[in-house]
Amino acid sequence: MQAELNIVILAAGKGTRMYSDLPKVLHPLAGKPLLLHVIDAARKLDPARLLVVYGHGGDALPKAFAQNGSVSPHGNQQIIWVEQAQQLGTGHALQQTLPELDENGLTLVLFGDVPLISEETLRALLKIKPGEVGLLTVELPDPAGYGRIVRDAQGRVTAIVEHKDASEAERAISEVNTGIMALPTRELKQWLATLRNDNAQGEYYLTDVIALAVKEGKTVSTCQPRRRSEVLGVNGAAQLAQLERLYQHEIAAGLMGRGVRLADPARIDVRGALICGRDVAIDVNCIFEGRVDLGDNVTVGANCVLRDVSVAAGTRIAPFSLLEQSQVGADGRIGPFARLRPGTVLAAEVHIGNFVELKNSQVERGSKINHLSYVGDTTVGKNVNIGAGTITCNYDGVNKFRTVIEDDAFIGSDTQLVAPVTIGKGATIGAGATITRDAPADQLTLSRAKQVSVPGWKRPQKKVMRNEQ
Ligand code: UD1
Ligand code: MG
Repeated sequence: MQAELNIVILAAGKGTRMYSDLPKVLHPLAGKPLLLHVIDAARKLDPARLLVVYGHGGDALPKAFAQNGSVSPHGNQQIIWVEQAQQLGTGHALQQTLPELDENGLTLVLFGDVPLISEETLRALLKIKPGEVGLLTVELPDPAGYGRIVRDAQGRVTAIVEHKDASEAERAISEVNTGIMALPTRELKQWLATLRNDNAQGEYYLTDVIALAVKEGKTVSTCQPRRRSEVLGVNGAAQLAQLERLYQHEIAAGLMGRGVRLADPARIDVRGALICGRDVAIDVNCIFEGRVDLGDNVTVGANCVLRDVSVAAGTRIAPFSLLEQSQVGADGRIGPFARLRPGTVLAAEVHIGNFVELKNSQVERGSKINHLSYVGDTTVGKNVNIGAGTITCNYDGVNKFRTVIEDDAFIGSDTQLVAPVTIGKGATIGAGATITRDAPADQLTLSRAKQVSVPGWKRPQKKVMRNEQ
């Protein structure tokens, strides 16, 4: 734990330009709320206290995080939620947190809608000497809207002037405030107490503490982010999409850096963790969600979606397949157009073909379900062949029942297996069967009526009405 480091994430703002009922910082980037990106970056610094200021939209934020968002791969340190009932400015937001802050160290301020900030940049910012103020700034070709960094003749920071309050000369400054800063907490408390709101926006500006610090002889030391994208904020849908692309681009670069062959790095979306072995190839337009593990030599065809899935070495997933919460064994063939629903566990060398849906089913080595089938709540043994159009009828409208198909069984096409039912080892089911009782091992079981041909039968003729003559 970093002794006495407070981290405050400001997230009380309205997010008007999102035009959304969902609070802005709950909008997902790479499948994860904006705010959780910031929380995860903060947690990597191991602060003594982590606070989030919320306000607009009531307790939607703490509620959303109480449900699912507080668990994070970077530890699950308690978040202290601080309400700012009225949004009177960034300085006012920070004032609300004062009773919770440990006076003895630094307070790092982050924004909930600036999601790509990195641990490395924050660590660099925190390397200030005792008593100094650290400010993360960036040069922008078009600085309109941002607070400008004002420096004296010696290049020392003297103040931040908000765009709306800036003079013509100040507006020409291209170095801007990212909003991210580190301040000595004891002094911060005093400075915040003296803030006034007699400015263009009638707000209590956190940025005004910079001039107060300088007046007291403090040094403001600035540092810049490693990449400009780290300090980009989200205001509307277009910026959210832009940041998503930047983030995905980085993930794609990372994958390729580890040897993963992407058909097009601009056409992959990873919303979670994608872990790949050697010689993995991924075609265009694939989406990976949650945790996905792809073993050596796995190939994923175009337009596949994989969510919380592991795929063992050598398996090929053909285009347009959707796999969720499933395990796929080695050297398998999945798809095209296959759907693996939660609880599917496939052993090695299993083939699942087009328009086949599996759910909560285990399939042993070498079995094939190649065409147009539904297999749910089923245990399939080794080297089983399930013919086209086979349906396990697992549901009576109220309860679910299991089907068991033992090793080496052969299920003819267009068969319904009405569960609970067991097909014995080596059994053959004739095509078109409706199996309602267990089928014995090694026998042919049929349920269809005998085929007959009717001699002399004639096709009906169209009847001709008298008045049509
Ligand atoms: C702020 C900075 C500006 C900087 C810019 C960078 C101030 C006064 N200005 O301006 O120098 O260049 O960010 O993007 O700090 N918030 C609250 N409570 C409030 C107001 C805001 O929690 O009462 C939160 C918002 O949710 C947001 C952050 O603070 O996460 C920044 O607020 P915003 O209104 O976007 O400030 P800017 O005007 O952009
Ligand atoms: Mg802003």
